[in-house]
Amino acid sequence: MTVPITARLDDPDAARREGRRKMDWARQHMPILDALRGEFEADRPFAGEVVGMAMHVEAKTAVLAELLAAGGAEVAITGCNPLSTHDDVSAALDAVEGVTAYAQRGVDEEAYYAAIEAVIGHGPSITVDDGMDLVAAIHEDYPELIDSIVGGAEETTTGVHRLRAMDDDGELAYPVFAVNDTPMKRLFDNVHGTGESSLASIAMTTNLSWAGRTVVVAGYGYCGKGVARKAAGQNADVVVTEVEPRRALEAHMEGYDVKPMAEAASEGDVFITTTGNRDVIVEEHFEAMQDGVLLANAGHFDIEVDLDALSELAVDTYEAREGVRAYEMADGRRLNVLAEGRLVNLATPVALGHPVEVMDQSFGVQAVCVRELVENGDAYDPGVHEVPDELDREVAEIKLAAEGVEFDDLTEAQAEYMDSWEHGT
Ligand code: NAI
Repeated sequence: MTVPITARLDDPDAARREGRRKMDWARQHMPILDALRGEFEADRPFAGEVVGMAMHVEAKTAVLAELLAAGGAEVAITGCNPLSTHDDVSAALDAVEGVTAYAQRGVDEEAYYAAIEAVIGHGPSITVDDGMDLVAAIHEDYPELIDSIVGGAEETTTGVHRLRAMDDDGELAYPVFAVNDTPMKRLFDNVHGTGESSLASIAMTTNLSWAGRTVVVAGYGYCGKGVARKAAGQNADVVVTEVEPRRALEAHMEGYDVKPMAEAASEGDVFITTTGNRDVIVEEHFEAMQDGVLLANAGHFDIEVDLDALSELAVDTYEAREGVRAYEMADGRRLNVLAEGRLVNLATPVALGHPVEVMDQSFGVQAVCVRELVENGDAYDPGVHEVPDELDREVAEIKLAAEGVEFDDLTEAQAEYMDSWEHGT
């Protein structure tokens, strides 16, 4: 049986204190969640609801969970990746009234899924996922709960992909908001968040420089664009690999070298995958790589770099630094994998995930989606739904107000013009 995190720590009090400190720091820099907290504490919109969450359990996520509890929800939370949990934050969160936290760092697959089941055991009426593991487990193993679930919200690209595939197969039995696809999330979190935090995590884990390095970015989607731009900003030479012609062209027009991985493999010093796909770097690429390369993945699952093939090729493997595993080839070359091929910005020992301000936006959208499900859940059929634009605008307006940024309103004449088709040349 899975028990809450605090029962598994040597010194739960110290862990709680440290976790609380991290949460307080994050909260100070999350004006959107702070504004929503005022509203939720007054209105208690989630009273009687059970929110089940499977997300990266670190300080920013904890502020979201605490916010939902402050709005009256019973919250049960676990991780969405065995290496991204901060145990101290999980412990501090578990101490919050109305919250039970099951996330623990470094658990094996069995314990990971047992914790998801423990969350489901609370009987969620709303699910908040990052990668869709919770939705999948409910549909596969607890379909009897579906009737009492109002809906869900999904944080990331891979989760939305999986949900759309499930929806296309007619298997998704309750409505889920694609939080990932909103402008307030994806134009900031995927681009700036992934770009900044992946580079920061790689630099801190390796103590190596970007300047003068050749950085190969696989995938030029939202995350890839951020990683490429920030790496170029650190004076690296950036090579992009793509499979989608328009994105390859976009990368080319941005001034990056675009080439197949088969060619890029022998040129790169650092490889960062951001495709959300599998088998992006495989045996033929390992064979062409230079000694000392760094291999990092920023996509959701740990299948972008084929670690099984790498293990088979290696004559030796050892921990070169904390969070860096070296694979030594028969010819003496060493290929270094960061964070076991898992999300590099969240899963190295020093990783902190996205900057706080960015997650304030993403989680602001999550919070208003949960509110929308409680208030208007009946209006949404089972399936994947775009987040209503007015909710995304609401979050943007809160943020602009907090930053003291003023902007223009359309005049009546402008609004009418934009809506009309009659004015031509
Ligand atoms: P996206 O769909 O905008 O971009 C993915 C790109 O990869 C597409 O342009 C696609 O054509 C390309 N691609 C697919 N297969 C490829 C291959 N074999 N070789 C080269 N390119 C290939 O998706 P987005 O939003 O950039 O997300 C990418 C991944 O990152 C997803 O798994 C997502 O869940 C994850 N993610 C990770 C975050 C983090 O904190 N590290 C934050 C947000 C998203």
